[in-house]
Amino acid sequence: TDFFTGDQTLKGKRILVTAGPTKEALDPIRFFSNQSSGKMGYAIAAAAQRAGADVTLVTGAQLGDIKGVTTVHVTSAREMYDEVIRRYNGLDAVIKAAAVADYRPENVSASKIKKSDGPMMVKMVRNPDILKELGRQKVKQVLVGFAAETDDLEENALKKLESKHLDLLIANHASDSFGNDTNKVTFYFANGRKQVLERMPKPQIAEEILDALSGLFEMSDS
Ligand code: CTP
Ligand code: CA
Repeated sequence: TDFFTGDQTLKGKRILVTAGPTKEALDPIRFFSNQSSGKMGYAIAAAAQRAGADVTLVTGAQLGDIKGVTTVHVTSAREMYDEVIRRYNGLDAVIKAAAVADYRPENVSASKIKKSDGPMMVKMVRNPDILKELGRQKVKQVLVGFAAETDDLEENALKKLESKHLDLLIANHASDSFGNDTNKVTFYFANGRKQVLERMPKPQIAEEILDALSGLFEMSDS
């Protein structure tokens, strides 16, 4: 690959990448979140920047900012939704590596919740599905989604590919990715093609994703 040479295969492309978990507040001290480290999204943003793209990273993770990448820090799913949707018109591609919380507490307490005897109930309500909304509003943007599953990987992957109008869905078993520096993923393309990748470091997966993205741009430009 062109990992070290930094050729300009994505020159002029405006790409937004999301990374990391979202955090959904319960009170000023507590939140609900997930195991996402943000490493995959950051690796994609860095690789896209090296390949000459104009890159915006919208992230719920706090890894070191990447030189040359516009980084927007967000906390909740609704903040991520706002930051992504308002940029969508001007983009050529969105790569949604973030692990967005599906639910948030219905009420956020203004003061610290004190414990009492017995169990505590928290009512959770649905967050917007950012990627689904991007699929709905899609004009000619290339959309790439991710799915980490514990069961029925392929069936779930294909369902997400179709229901969110994606061009590429990158799927893996949850146990292969979270917190790891490597992952073992499979690419599912909208045209039915399937590509099984070996286990490899996340920066190398990022290169593979951008190769696939270049191919998708070529298809949509011709
Ligand atoms: N996603 C999103 N907004 C959400 C939930 C998910 O943009 N509120 C995106 C993720 O960033 C990912 C893709 O959708 O690229 C798939 O996320 P996933 O959690 O696997 O799928 P869901 O549709 O939320 O289905 P479920 O969690 O029930 O498997
Ligand atoms: Ca989800």
